[in-house]
Amino acid sequence: MKFRKKTVRDIEVVGKTVLVRVDYNVPMKDGEIVEDMRIRGSLPTLNYLLGQGCKKLILISHLGRPDGEVKNEFSLAPVAQRLAKLLANKDVRFCSECTGEAVRRAVADMPNGGVLMLENLRFSPEEEANSEEFADAIISATGAEVFVQDGFAVIHRAHASTDAIARKLPAVAGFLVEEEVSKLEAATADPEHPVLVIIGGAKVEDKQPLIDKFLPIADKIAVGGKIAADGYTNDNEKVYVAEDFSMDENGAKLDIGPRSIEAITKMINEAKTVIWNGVVGLTEDERFAYGSQQLATVMGHNPGLTIVGGGDTAGFVEGMLKDDANADLKFSLVSTGGGASLELLCGKKLPGLEALMDA
Ligand code: 3PG
Repeated sequence: MKFRKKTVRDIEVVGKTVLVRVDYNVPMKDGEIVEDMRIRGSLPTLNYLLGQGCKKLILISHLGRPDGEVKNEFSLAPVAQRLAKLLANKDVRFCSECTGEAVRRAVADMPNGGVLMLENLRFSPEEEANSEEFADAIISATGAEVFVQDGFAVIHRAHASTDAIARKLPAVAGFLVEEEVSKLEAATADPEHPVLVIIGGAKVEDKQPLIDKFLPIADKIAVGGKIAADGYTNDNEKVYVAEDFSMDENGAKLDIGPRSIEAITKMINEAKTVIWNGVVGLTEDERFAYGSQQLATVMGHNPGLTIVGGGDTAGFVEGMLKDDANADLKFSLVSTGGGASLELLCGKKLPGLEALMDA
């Protein structure tokens, strides 16, 4: 399926100041980055723009939910440092504002071909309010001439940096957005059958729309995780709900059991398209990660279209992929977006995607 928006390949960036919206909302603990999948995911676009000879590359992002206030624990400064390492130690500068004189000065001081990361957009309440003035202020302080949206994980939000700003500049998608949207849309539009959707996680109200969307598309829907443990039922014959569970000493059902693992394994092996959203056990506790590990392993050997969507599920699979013992596992897409991939799979329009120029 052809990607319906313009991408970085469609615009001229030589000698231009390019503003890139990335999603570097990465998990942090005690000021350290726990998982940098989203930073690594942006590298193809950043390296491409630098390689094409853009004059200045300016990155904007949010981190966490600081609710419109400056909170040091949500600063993007450590992220800029990690990015510098990943960009082969390129001089990545950081500005502790995202509008105003400090940004103007930082941009003026940048060398040609340099990279500047601005501070967390959500330190300003105008970001989530999708403020036109805030978008104008970012554009005027940075001198941006082109806007690139590569923050796939945030394109389901209509914020100043995803919506307002994209309507004020020539706006195109980066490679991460192009790849994720294309693969997720292919999985819903014209997937190869049999199609299996595996649903886990805790909140049935989040997952029921996905089940409803895929009932006409999928051949099987397997439900595990807390949803199943809490007694989810569905009369549709396509829907399989985990039938046994591993329990803790108090009898809490915290992972799917051997019969369920066997049944879902068979479905994965028969499927040509597998979409997985939501871990099937309490994976933070090694004792209850077994079911999710088994499903990931079988799925990672399936040669068809295999898509891992959703924040927790993707983080879990990325963790497994770091282990050399799992080097043979391959997935078509491990999505960097939780809410964004869920909304796209459910067929919703994503404001940050819609705002980009049509191809
Ligand atoms: C995410 O982690 O899903 C994105 O970064 C969006 O974050 P948000 O849910 O706080 O808008």
